[in-house]
Amino acid sequence: MKKLLIKNCRLRSGDLKDILISDGKFEKIADTIDAAGSAAEDVEVIDAGGNLVTPPFCDAHLHLDATLSVGKPRYNMSGTLMEGIQIWDERKVGLSKEIIKKNATDVIEWEVANGSTFLRTHVDSTDTTGVVVDALLEVRDEVKDIADLQIVAFPQDCIYTSDDGEKMLEEALEKGCDVVGGLPYFEYSPIDGYNDLKFVFDMAEKYDRLVDVHCDECSDDQSRYVEYMARETIVRGLEGRVAASHTTAMHNYDNEYAAKVISNIKRADMTIITNPFANANLQNRRDGYPRRRGHTRVDELLEAGVNICIGSDDIMDPWYPMGKGSPLAGANLLLNYAQISGYAQIPLLIDMITENPAKTMHIDGYGIAEGNPANMVILDVDSEFDAVRLTAEALYVIRKGRVISRTVPAKRELMRGDEKHDIDFKVTPENK
Ligand code: FE2
Repeated sequence: MKKLLIKNCRLRSGDLKDILISDGKFEKIADTIDAAGSAAEDVEVIDAGGNLVTPPFCDAHLHLDATLSVGKPRYNMSGTLMEGIQIWDERKVGLSKEIIKKNATDVIEWEVANGSTFLRTHVDSTDTTGVVVDALLEVRDEVKDIADLQIVAFPQDCIYTSDDGEKMLEEALEKGCDVVGGLPYFEYSPIDGYNDLKFVFDMAEKYDRLVDVHCDECSDDQSRYVEYMARETIVRGLEGRVAASHTTAMHNYDNEYAAKVISNIKRADMTIITNPFANANLQNRRDGYPRRRGHTRVDELLEAGVNICIGSDDIMDPWYPMGKGSPLAGANLLLNYAQISGYAQIPLLIDMITENPAKTMHIDGYGIAEGNPANMVILDVDSEFDAVRLTAEALYVIRKGRVISRTVPAKRELMRGDEKHDIDFKVTPENK
């Protein structure tokens, strides 16, 4: 395998380094590495030009079984989560494995082109035909050249509200799903909701799997399942293995109660996965005005030291009609929506799509360091600030030492009389 030398890489620390890759691993990272003396057929040289390089992005929350299905069989006219669930139930009837695989694979390719090669998707385990789970398990194998896909067995119609929910969830795990999911709030009653979580944790222990639950994804300030998740995590000794996705009800909790819950989430070493696109749209729709933001308490969780990740969640499906699989776009939206625009907070947004989800997903050898698998992205900007501001393009995506995606940035030319101005939205030293 040809060596790869990447010159002039701006690391997240701000340092400028050259990076040598051989046999799929980072061999050397140094101020200067010279390819002189090596035959051209032995070493490919890429000049990063001082641009920012990061480990690949990790999109920690997707629904690749439903993706690209917007409008099929009908559009969500109310924009609510409940209408989205109804539409998905209609779509599931007679859905073919080939269609699910095609849509999922296309979005995975979008994600990779945007710099994400580590993806976690939920898959509906309450589909009675089993086709949905089978489709994603096959896709996981088929995309290994470009991405690592982690699959959460997710009971979309709930474990006790659907028939045979327990059995179907366990079957999905036996088929090979990587993570156990749940949906306690949408069970018929709180008792069912707590039993939902108890079963999820039982399955995690029985099959030695990570946990990722759609938890408190509502506006109801009495939806308090994340508290129970923290309790189960601590009591069962599962610290570092459990994620709660959404937790939007937390936005509406009494402040005293929220402080207690956040403290226990930290003690349990749990991850909170926030999904800016869906959560900005689905929650608190009945508020009238003033309308609460319907988002979990990102700033307070950050202050408490909780591990937070950003997910795309829905990409062109019954719950959210937009999206293009860009974690940086999610970071940009979260900056605005959760008020994370303090200058020192911007690197935290990059953490939420790199290091934090890598920890949640238990990715081995993650990061740009000598000896690790050579996975990295070269962005079309020289700072984290501009990466978020411009939702920067991923010029190169490198996986195990191989370039798997290249992007040629758009070229914009503005005419001022006879004078041509190149426009790239970047600030220059002349801008004072
Ligand atoms: Fe979700």
